[in-house]
Amino acid sequence: MNGLKLNLGCGEKRFPGYINVDKYGSPDIKHDLESFPWPWETNSVSEIVLIHVLEHLGKDVEIYFGIFKEMYRICNHGAKIKIIVPHFRHEFFYDDPTHVRVVTPLGLQLFSQRLNKLWVEQGAANSPLGLYLDINFELKQTVIKPSEDWFRIHPDKNVDVRLLQQESNIYNNLIEQYDMSLEVIKNSNEEAGGKV
Ligand SMILES: C[S@@+](CC[C@H](N)C(=O)[O-])C[C@H]1O[C@@H](n2cnc3c(N)ncnc32)[C@H](O)[C@@H]1O
Repeated sequence: MNGLKLNLGCGEKRFPGYINVDKYGSPDIKHDLESFPWPWETNSVSEIVLIHVLEHLGKDVEIYFGIFKEMYRICNHGAKIKIIVPHFRHEFFYDDPTHVRVVTPLGLQLFSQRLNKLWVEQGAANSPLGLYLDINFELKQTVIKPSEDWFRIHPDKNVDVRLLQQESNIYNNLIEQYDMSLEVIKNSNEEAGGKV
């Protein structure tokens, strides 16, 4: 797919073939991602990566929404967005005072208009943020990375993901990070079916 590829909050990890963006250092483009509008044309981007960045952004929820509205504006239909964040119950999340926002798979699914409509029909209490903000993202994949503590208790490399999720509802430090992939939906006739 044609379009720009952005590595937002790149830090020192600059990727070839991407426009590497950060507020600090010497990236390709220096920009504060909490300041709008972002310096890219509408429908000009086919891929965005945010690797250990989103948890640093949008302490104010309107700013957080602004980031998703800008990603939606600059991306073309079908664009891919990769988001890696520390799990909110892992010390990697809560030990860093610059981590200001919890990001979870369900939190990203609130931006899916397909699910929003389903929840409205069902009378579910989930906020239909995709409809409210006029944005539409489908969560296509979530990869859960178990922590060293998990492997100390369960050394088997074939991870029982269901057990991991159940235990993680009770204990801290079992999941290290979420690696989530969003797809941008601009043509709702072609709305891709994501999993609930
Ligand atoms: C934990 S580092 C991750 C860096 C890199 N993505 C990596 O994986 O190594 C978070 C990055 O987000 C950048 N960042 C934080 N707030 C930002 C903002 N408002 N605008 C742009 N970049 C920001 C920081 O400067 C830092 O480089």
